[in-house]
Amino acid sequence: MGRKVTKALFPVAGLGTRFLPATKSIPKEIMTLVDRPLIQYAIDEARAAGIKEFIFVTSRGKGALEDYFDHAPELENSLRKRGKDELLETLKNTNMDSGAIAYIRQHKALGLGHAVWCARRLISPNEPFAVILPDDVIAAEKPCLQQMVEAYDELGGSMVAAMEVPPELASAYGVLDVKEDMGSIVAVNGMVEKPKDGTAPSNLAVIGRYILSPKVLNNLNKIKSGAGGEIQLTDAIAAEIEEGRNVYGYRFRGQRFDCGSKAGFLQATVAFGLAREELQKEFSEYLRHMVSLQKAAQ
Ligand code: UTP
Repeated sequence: MGRKVTKALFPVAGLGTRFLPATKSIPKEIMTLVDRPLIQYAIDEARAAGIKEFIFVTSRGKGALEDYFDHAPELENSLRKRGKDELLETLKNTNMDSGAIAYIRQHKALGLGHAVWCARRLISPNEPFAVILPDDVIAAEKPCLQQMVEAYDELGGSMVAAMEVPPELASAYGVLDVKEDMGSIVAVNGMVEKPKDGTAPSNLAVIGRYILSPKVLNNLNKIKSGAGGEIQLTDAIAAEIEEGRNVYGYRFRGQRFDCGSKAGFLQATVAFGLAREELQKEFSEYLRHMVSLQKAAQ
């Protein structure tokens, strides 16, 4: 079935206003969960799914992100001299093969759909591609995009990661209009971006992982701004359905953290901190202590 997915797009051109003032000078994607920037989690997930080419849609002030993937010869030499092999190995994961990474600019933050459209000339007309939003961090036994690629290899079409949300939160997401629920896969009739309260067509929300047919890029050519005045990616995917092509939602197995929000970022910090063997004891003792102090204060 179809072509293998080997290219991934990382839209990282947003303003990150929810993390001001930090994001005045630090790209949101460089913010750190335990000891790795958000972007490293996204890259590791992409690599596990078989992605070989990485395209970043960036904007002004994202220089730190580009530097992050460069080799650091002085640092590497100094670690080598000091016999710090483990740290050298850690650094290796941040390096990219020559030509494997491309950066393209979105000159104005006109929305996620527009950011994806900015990369249209880097995707061939018959090439499916993945989109990963690094601020959605997913803890999973099998990385989320890998789960999706396996399903995509069977089904083709376009696919979005879907997650159940309580009705009162649906208006913050793109929501699936479900045609047929087949368990981990749902066939989709349409998608509504940020539905008004009480109008969401289901409780399945789209989160930041996609495998898209290149035809979505043609749809983006035609789309004017949607919800919130932004050019929405979900509108272009929904247009696929109108043109008779298949779109699926994929109920991934794993826990998603919205690291674009402060509460989500803090939750992820706790979860990923507790998952680290070297931190577990000290950190969990501290958390227990905090909880008992809070209870005592109530
Ligand atoms: P968000 O909706 O989280 O927006 O974007 P944001 O600008 O990053 O953050 P806030 O809301 O101001 O705090 C979701 C993803 O889409 C990218 C962002 O970089 C993020 O990865 N994006 C969004 C773009 O690349 N360009 C845009 O115009 C908008």
